[in-house]
Amino acid sequence: MSEKISVLISEEDVDKKVREVAAQISKDYEGKEVHLICVLKGSVFFACELAKRITVPVTLDFMSVSSYGDDTKSSGVVKIIKDLDEPLENKDVLIVEDIIDSGRTLSYLIEILKKRNPASLHLCTLLDKPDRRVRPVHVNYTCFEIPDEFVVGYGLDYAQKYRNLPYIGVVEIQ
Ligand code: IMP
Ligand code: MG
Repeated sequence: MSEKISVLISEEDVDKKVREVAAQISKDYEGKEVHLICVLKGSVFFACELAKRITVPVTLDFMSVSSYGDDTKSSGVVKIIKDLDEPLENKDVLIVEDIIDSGRTLSYLIEILKKRNPASLHLCTLLDKPDRRVRPVHVNYTCFEIPDEFVVGYGLDYAQKYRNLPYIGVVEIQ
């Protein structure tokens, strides 16, 4: 079996959109600090690009969750692999995600993070596949809505590969 990758969103288009979203975040958080939570591993590339372009003070923390399932579908069972290093109390927290698919990972994460009493808790995602949603999730910032296809690049993987692609591509298994 081999994979063929075709470009869905070019590097230029991703960069342009990330700048726009970062500008909007900078405006919305004017006079505050924003505490970004990067959900490992997929969100790392996006979180870095976004953070570099936010003009209000930024702090960063990392969390790793795994959803049990096969390579292309999430099962809905979520486990914390690595928790945050710092408390969220009184912080303006912005979760940075690579992709929202069924919404199971995020609805679980939001539930547990809310209990840590942040001043605010918002969500920013690079990609959203709204057609696949089984759990409702309120998304504050979305870079791109995409159709129901398996994508890689800009942090997203297929069996841990292709995270380093500078664009977003669709995987076809041949
Ligand atoms: P959800 O819980 O179904 O919303 O799944 C979210 C997680 O599934 C994401 O954080 C990704 O790790 C993974 N995922 C969902 N769709 C894709 C995709 O098209 N490409 C790569 N990973 C995906
Ligand atoms: Mg993810």
